[in-house]
Amino acid sequence: MGRIALIGGDGIGPEVIRVAEVVLEAAAAGHGIRVTLDHWDLGADRYLRDGVTITDEERDRLTGDYDAALLGALGDPRVPDNAHARDILLGLRFSADLYINFRPCRLLVPDLSPLRNTDPGIDIVFFRENTEGLYAGVGGSFKTGTRDEIATEQSINTWRGVERIVRAAFEHAARTGRGRVTLVDKANVLRHEGGLWRRVFAEVGVGFPDIARDAMYVDAMAMDLVRRPHRYEVVVTSNLFGDILSDLGAQVTGGLGLAPSGNLNPGSWALFEPVHGSAPDIAGRGIANPLAAVGCASLALAHLGSEEAAAAVDECIVASIREGVTTPDLGGHATTRTVGEWMAARLAD
Ligand code: NAD
Ligand code: IPM
Ligand code: MN
Repeated sequence: MGRIALIGGDGIGPEVIRVAEVVLEAAAAGHGIRVTLDHWDLGADRYLRDGVTITDEERDRLTGDYDAALLGALGDPRVPDNAHARDILLGLRFSADLYINFRPCRLLVPDLSPLRNTDPGIDIVFFRENTEGLYAGVGGSFKTGTRDEIATEQSINTWRGVERIVRAAFEHAARTGRGRVTLVDKANVLRHEGGLWRRVFAEVGVGFPDIARDAMYVDAMAMDLVRRPHRYEVVVTSNLFGDILSDLGAQVTGGLGLAPSGNLNPGSWALFEPVHGSAPDIAGRGIANPLAAVGCASLALAHLGSEEAAAAVDECIVASIREGVTTPDLGGHATTRTVGEWMAARLAD
């Protein structure tokens, strides 16, 4: 028994969440699991209509009455400063203290990678710190709009915040039999935060003697994720670097249309969302790839303790690609909706 809130959000968000819903229902039915799915109307339409992003009462109910939420995407050209997305998405990450942004990038079908001719396999899990760093909103602007304007944005790094994400990365490596954890930073320039991350990384790593550890500067890492992505197993990094590198990791494993993510705090409420955004350039055309959202449905099922149902969904994702039931970004002719229908029918078999 589980309760999941569905937040379509903006752009392609509602289109891909509708597919995740259909797949969740089919997988749950096939495995005898009872899951309640409720739609929540949060996003740009409501913000522009009522001036409301999310109320305190809604935030409490969302995190208190549900096991998890599945969010499509937030971001709309009519809200240029992205205020509602920050309020809702970052607001939920911060208020529920979802300090782990878990972003797996696994090459499911070898042909999907632009590096297919050189690569033996790509299976990287990004542990992106999710509650501080440059996302903390600490800063300000002075003499705004004048030629004397000053703008600051401070990177906040606490020992506790760094320790818990680094530990989560090592624990995941130990639990899943991965042999290496890589720290990504810019410690050659950002020496204050770099010093803290490197010290904590070494201290925590000592407790995991079977797991190798190395550190990479983020610029070299961006290059190496294209040159030899197969070298990396678990990557732990700060909020902003994790945001950037997880899009890169998604692209070398088939594109943003495939990459799911989980905002987690082990043992508590979780928020699952595709790595991609609201894709205004393709919204409303029925061609958004729903597989990242379906991957989130799988992560949500695993979060509810239904590993078997999650594995069935994962298998279904691979099958849809192998059988060519894909949206145009993966070379197919299917629509967002027909991918979902095909998957639901397969899961019901
Ligand atoms: P984006 O991820 O929305 O799109 C980048 C490119 O990838 C576009 O060409 C888009 O068409 C393509 N793409 C993305 N998802 C796809 C899918 N499922 N199927 C096929 N193609 C897909 O990034 P952007 O254009 O930089 O951002 C658009 C808006 O989304 C912005 O407002 C941004 O702030 C927001 N955003 C939200 C989230 C989120 O809610 N989690 C994440 C990233 C960006
Ligand atoms: C993501 C998005 C968000 C982020 C934005 C929309 C706030 O890019 O989930 O990757 O930067 O974390
Ligand atoms: Mn992002």
